Amino acid sequence: MRTGAASARELSREAATRLERAGVPEPIASAEVLLSELLGVGRADVAFYDEPLTDEQRALYETWISRRMEREPVQRILGYGYFRNLKLYLNEHALVPRPDTESVVDVALECIDRRGDRGVVLDIGTGSGAIAIAIAQERPGCEIHATDLSEGALKIARHNAELNGVEIHFHGADVAAGLDFLNKRVDLLVSNPPYIPSDAATRLAPEVHRWDPHLALYSGPEELTFFRRIFAETPPLLSAGADVVLEIGDGQAETVLALGEGFGFTPLGWRPDLAGSPRAALLRWPGR
Ligand SMILES: C[S@@+](CC[C@H](N)C(=O)[O-])C[C@H]1O[C@@H](n2cnc3c(N)ncnc32)[C@H](O)[C@@H]1O
Repeated sequence: MRTGAASARELSREAATRLERAGVPEPIASAEVLLSELLGVGRADVAFYDEPLTDEQRALYETWISRRMEREPVQRILGYGYFRNLKLYLNEHALVPRPDTESVVDVALECIDRRGDRGVVLDIGTGSGAIAIAIAQERPGCEIHATDLSEGALKIARHNAELNGVEIHFHGADVAAGLDFLNKRVDLLVSNPPYIPSDAATRLAPEVHRWDPHLALYSGPEELTFFRRIFAETPPLLSAGADVVLEIGDGQAETVLALGEGFGFTPLGWRPDLAGSPRAALLRWPGR
């Protein structure tokens, strides 16, 4: 980066051009978001930032742009990301929370609202805590439990819950194993499980394959493994009439709904993400 570049706006434009030439997706967004976070101003305000940047700020921005050119995601560079109203810190064990998952939370909130902001919620595979913390923040009347197999993910999820001032009961668990100590039945089960088959890894963007934890992404050789395990293992934990909201990958909606039906769940359909693609499968556990 030229040291002579004067204003924040010039710096960010120059960085965006370099990112674009390097083939980085959404170069303008990356350049602007990184600079706005560095300066502590809103993205739209970068263009109006009048103060001269210090040498330290320029040097840090240069380092961040170089990392982005190597396809490191913006959230990994910053060490945090935004999800609904939340700022969530990340470590190498936690998936970067996605905007698609925000629509899964919308579906979960609708289910909670039908019960009147109460009930027991279980988030399986909580990662950074995104889903559980968003629900806790937006529907404070619920009792919320969240699990993950990764102790590293649980560590950052606990930190995020504390920073966002919500109470979540976190449990280290392999899907639902060992959760029978919960003394109340779960009224809403929500999960964004790993649903990408391992052989699809090479088709993923480097931002995802190189930087997100593989435990969070890949389901193993078979894409439905986690859905099958959730349907097979969770019924003893669920109340009669419990709602089940599962994030699904492209093309998985009908298969996941049919799979759930085979395990005795009532399929209620799917809901779209912001782009209109099926992103949440909705089912109900009728009880035994
Ligand atoms: C797709 S990520 C979702 C993370 C977070 N809920 C979100 O939406 O951003 C899947 C999560 O499941 C966890 N996981 C993988 N295998 C698991 C297992 N056997 N039992 C519980 N959690 C598991 C991963 O560590 C990861 O945090």
